[in-house]
Amino acid sequence: MVTSSATAGTMNGQGATRKLAVHCKSVTKTYGAGGAKVTALRGIDLDIATGELMMLVGPSGCGKTTLISVIAGILDRDAGECTVFGVDFNTMSASAKTKFRGSNVGFVFQAFNLIPTLTAAENVAVPLMILGEGRSAAVKKGKEMLEKVGLGERYKSLPSQLSGGQQQRVAIARALVHEPRLIVCDEPTSALDHETGHVIMRLLKNVALKDDRALVIVTHDARIFGFADRIAKLDDGEVKSIQTPEEMNIGVAK
Ligand SMILES: Nc1ncnc2c1ncn2[C@@H]1O[C@H](COP(=O)(O)OP(=O)(O)OP(=O)(O)O)[C@@H](O)[C@H]1O
Ligand SMILES: [Mg+2]
Repeated sequence: MVTSSATAGTMNGQGATRKLAVHCKSVTKTYGAGGAKVTALRGIDLDIATGELMMLVGPSGCGKTTLISVIAGILDRDAGECTVFGVDFNTMSASAKTKFRGSNVGFVFQAFNLIPTLTAAENVAVPLMILGEGRSAAVKKGKEMLEKVGLGERYKSLPSQLSGGQQQRVAIARALVHEPRLIVCDEPTSALDHETGHVIMRLLKNVALKDDRALVIVTHDARIFGFADRIAKLDDGEVKSIQTPEEMNIGVAK
């Protein structure tokens, strides 16, 4: 395995040690049983520092969605260690897990998963309402977040009235609105044109990524690789290499 010299412990370029946002060691995950058994993760080792944007790349079916689902506590791993800001979801009750995830994790699903009967602003407001914020204040913040992703004028639209790229931006706004410490995105630019994809990446990197937060992005989109701090290549349920864009001869995007 090729490992970047810029390891999680010394990532910020000033020599000071950053905290770990995500720690995975020998993580395995199998779906199904018997003849239908599929091994999706075969022993994943991956550390992501606070302040870091980690991209996960690799062929279809290699385990990317499975890995981020385990990291985000949506899916239970079979074995290995996995902590998020030092917390192990496997040791928590279902309600404690839901509460921690609600406050600390924002997730952009590959299939967007918007609620069809809610407007764009209401969809974005859902995480805030789950955290106890009143409806009108939450929807107001939802509308403001939509403005940041360039959809301010469409806040009253239902998902079915929006294009794929617009729905994707609603899903991104929903993942950011409660300012979670860990933001996990599954193909966030897949339905976006080049310019909108760069706008969203700049938003994610400059607005959402702070020193005490981390961003994990699954992507096939080589046009956004330059936004990463490091890029982990997965294949067949394993991390094959972790490199910086510079090490991969990719220009850094701003
Ligand atoms: N619910 C499930 N039941 C059974 N097998 C599954 C399930 N979800 C995923 N798999 C299998 O696990 C493996 C990893 O799937 P995963 O969705 O993590 O891949 P991926 O890298 O995200 O692929 P893509 O780029 O196509 O989204 C695949 O072989 C897939 O068929
Ligand atoms: Mg996937």
